[in-house]
Amino acid sequence: MKTLRKQESLLGCLTVPGDKSISHRAVMFGALAEGETHIRGFLKGADCLSTIGCFRKMGIAIEETEEEIIVHGKGLHGLKEAREILDVGNSGTTTRLISGILAGQDFTSILSGDASLNSRPMKRIMTPLSMMDASIESINQDGCAPLKITGHPLKAIHYNSPVASAQVKSCVLLAGLYADGVTSVTEPALSRDHTERMLRSFGANLISDGLTCSITPPESLHGQNIVVPGDISSAAFFIVAGLITPGSSITIENVGINETRAGIIEVCKKMGADLSMQNVREEGGEPVADLHVNYSKLHGTTIQGSIIPTLIDELPVIALMACFADGQTIIRDAHELRVKESDRIELVSHNLKAMGADITATDDGFLINGGLPLHGAIIDCKMDHRIAMTFAIAGINASGETAIPQSDCVDVSYPAFWSQLESLYLK
Ligand code: S3P
Repeated sequence: MKTLRKQESLLGCLTVPGDKSISHRAVMFGALAEGETHIRGFLKGADCLSTIGCFRKMGIAIEETEEEIIVHGKGLHGLKEAREILDVGNSGTTTRLISGILAGQDFTSILSGDASLNSRPMKRIMTPLSMMDASIESINQDGCAPLKITGHPLKAIHYNSPVASAQVKSCVLLAGLYADGVTSVTEPALSRDHTERMLRSFGANLISDGLTCSITPPESLHGQNIVVPGDISSAAFFIVAGLITPGSSITIENVGINETRAGIIEVCKKMGADLSMQNVREEGGEPVADLHVNYSKLHGTTIQGSIIPTLIDELPVIALMACFADGQTIIRDAHELRVKESDRIELVSHNLKAMGADITATDDGFLINGGLPLHGAIIDCKMDHRIAMTFAIAGINASGETAIPQSDCVDVSYPAFWSQLESLYLK
């Protein structure tokens, strides 16, 4: 359990850990490639370690050193049937992306995770994979994991996804590696495009045209050297901390600012944030920058429509930021928040209300009237890493004491979170 108290100001410079989405993909694509893939900046959080564990069980040698992860790829047809259940832990990305790969193998696999993972919707991948002739079954017949997947020769499809989800898009594109023709996915709004960027660098032929991406099955993929940028979803906690904690000035180095991920930067600016990007550059096919934030007087805004997928994981901490802005903030079109590691609409509003905020949960977002001072509370984070980190930032801006009983759950995406946060406190 962690307890937090109000901080005067946060000062300093930090580097956040590697991007979770990119780390997962680097291991997966490396496993399917010929030769070695070297990954620097890999996020050694529980979710990405679940991905490593699954591929090891399917016969892929993966070395971990201080500086890098080395994946010894066995090619598109080199995976072996696992002798045990593939444990996906808390990780939706592992589950949904790996399912696309497993649908094209010539063996049967069973995927299962923790209680949260096993209650998240999997029909969204079962539907397109079944259309491709894959055999994928929810073992408890509830549309959730555990999943049983028996690989088959796959039929190429065009899939109109009802949700803007990179996990669904990536699942279908990965199954498309094994299909009998060109597979394409159209989504209602553009979700993160790391799969497209990285699969291209491994030698696959993917064409993106607006909201549609198509893949032609390649002969083979080729091992790469990948440099993983810092995760903007982890940086988000320090961006918001710097903006709402009076007197703060924080630099966050080496943050991925891919435009399909960087909606939070646009929203902060719209709310009046003093946020600048320095040293903008490209590393390993992804745009990267150092971000600098100073405490700012913020005002409310409306967040809706196509920007939502570009900041979906940041909405809990954006909701917190809105409590420190003058006027009303409206967040709409974010129904997906209800099916993340927890129901984040319910949990954010429940905990912010407990701290004295004026927030109303709606079906697909929040109405927040900013300006009320927050006070300490005991936070129920239901083992959701992003909820725990959001309320750590709330706790250092609230009177009294805020307790986070399940504070260890940050290990899913950010094992060093607590020590990095404390490093910014005034000594
Ligand atoms: C992810 C996609 C998003 C995001 C998740 C990681 C990915 O999920 O919330 O944390 O790596 O593809 P959805 O695809 O379900 O929106």
